Amino acid sequence: MPRATILVVDDDPLIRLSLAERLGSEGYTVLEADSGPAALEQLPVGVDLVLLDYRDPDAGGVTALRGIKAFDQDVLVILLTVSASVETAVEAMTLGAYHFAVTPFNLDEVVALVDRALETTRLRREVRQLRSDAARPYSLQRIVGASAAIAALRHIVARVSRSPASTVLLTGESGTGKNLVAKVIHYSSDRAARPFMDITSSALPEHLLESELFGHERGAFTDARIEQRGLLENADGGTVFLDEVGDMPPALQAKLLRFLEEKSFKRVGGTADIHVDVRVIAATNRNVEEDVARHQFRSDLFYRLNVLPIELPPLRSHPDDIPLLVEYFIDAFNAEFRKAVLGARPAAYSVLQGYGWPGNVRELRNLVERAMLLTDSDRLDARDFPAVVAPEEDRDTFLLPAGGVKFEELERSLLMQALTRSRGNQTRAGALLGLNRDQIRYRIEKFGLAVPA
Ligand SMILES: Nc1ncnc2c1ncn2[C@@H]1O[C@H](COP(=O)(O)OP(=O)(O)OP(=O)(O)O)[C@@H](O)[C@H]1O
Ligand SMILES: [Mg+2]
Repeated sequence: MPRATILVVDDDPLIRLSLAERLGSEGYTVLEADSGPAALEQLPVGVDLVLLDYRDPDAGGVTALRGIKAFDQDVLVILLTVSASVETAVEAMTLGAYHFAVTPFNLDEVVALVDRALETTRLRREVRQLRSDAARPYSLQRIVGASAAIAALRHIVARVSRSPASTVLLTGESGTGKNLVAKVIHYSSDRAARPFMDITSSALPEHLLESELFGHERGAFTDARIEQRGLLENADGGTVFLDEVGDMPPALQAKLLRFLEEKSFKRVGGTADIHVDVRVIAATNRNVEEDVARHQFRSDLFYRLNVLPIELPPLRSHPDDIPLLVEYFIDAFNAEFRKAVLGARPAAYSVLQGYGWPGNVRELRNLVERAMLLTDSDRLDARDFPAVVAPEEDRDTFLLPAGGVKFEELERSLLMQALTRSRGNQTRAGALLGLNRDQIRYRIEKFGLAVPA
């Protein structure tokens, strides 16, 4: 760690000199200032700790202390006072001073105080650094894809991150990235340094879910031997991700709605209103609108959650992103498995892009993981994805996509493709489709096609 920089602020040159000499000999870099304003000018140099003359607080000590804290909360301030009266002590502590050294002071004590104070900042900075390192994997770029659908998704996620109070509802099929997007929203928002907590509504029985979320008072129920804060309290200042909100029991839906409207709630068995500042991101892979219509989900809660709906597209609707996603996962598993796979062959991309992906990106990720574990080659090939490559004998089964097809359009499109590939040769086009020349000619007329030359 670089040597810490200490700024000594005192109008008495003798005091400055003795402190500077002693702290310098302890290995600290020492700067000096003879007044509060002069001290503030030095802060941009990078000061870790300030020893501030506070013998006469009215002489500008309070203003200087405020200024230092406004510049950087992390700069520690130790006040040099004649005697610490309770009032000045309380005032200074409220303003963020770390400690007092009462003059005439013992230099050894000052050094010990400085050492201890700097250890606190170092730890605080380390924690902050760790938090932001942990957050980095969830930058906006973590949402991979260049298609219009994913670009639009990143755009709205960026906008939502900038409005840190609004409630968000994420919808989309399983494996489309709802958990991922929730984390990206949190870690790209002002709340990033505060907790991100998630809870899955379907994973717990109702009473446990309620106490998990809202906390409980001692004796609220048989097992409640001690009072306990809930997720909402623990996440104060941050984000709570309510997964599978469509499965939330009706009584809890009502309590959640009240919280969203009033920003306050009562613990289970409690009477006091607890206020917290938490952004709620809810997610579901159910069709909540249908649940509302069937009275399985409160409509008022739905409208409250649906202020900012974000719909995650199924993978089959943006197959263009498959190569990018595959490369992204290959990189990730190269690191994890200590492999050096370079990429995938075009044949692999073409079978992957033709597949229906009922499990969406999660399924793709799992298949790439499996392929990487098993392959000996430096490029993944179509045969490394046996789940996707239809076996030979199944050639005749055309997998109906989940969303169905428009049969006539499909027929027309297949015919056009076959004719294009055969450069208009009707017999060869027929061979591609298992039809004879007459059957091809009949369809050309049926669809009124201009045969490609
Ligand atoms: N656009 C994307 N870019 C990169 N990774 C993605 C993307 N979408 C999803 N993933 C990855 O796919 C996996 C599944 O995503 P996630 O768990 O967020 O899905 P989900 O929508 O929450 O699914 P479920 O409804 O089953 O809970 C995760 O590993 C996630 O990181
Ligand atoms: Mg999920």
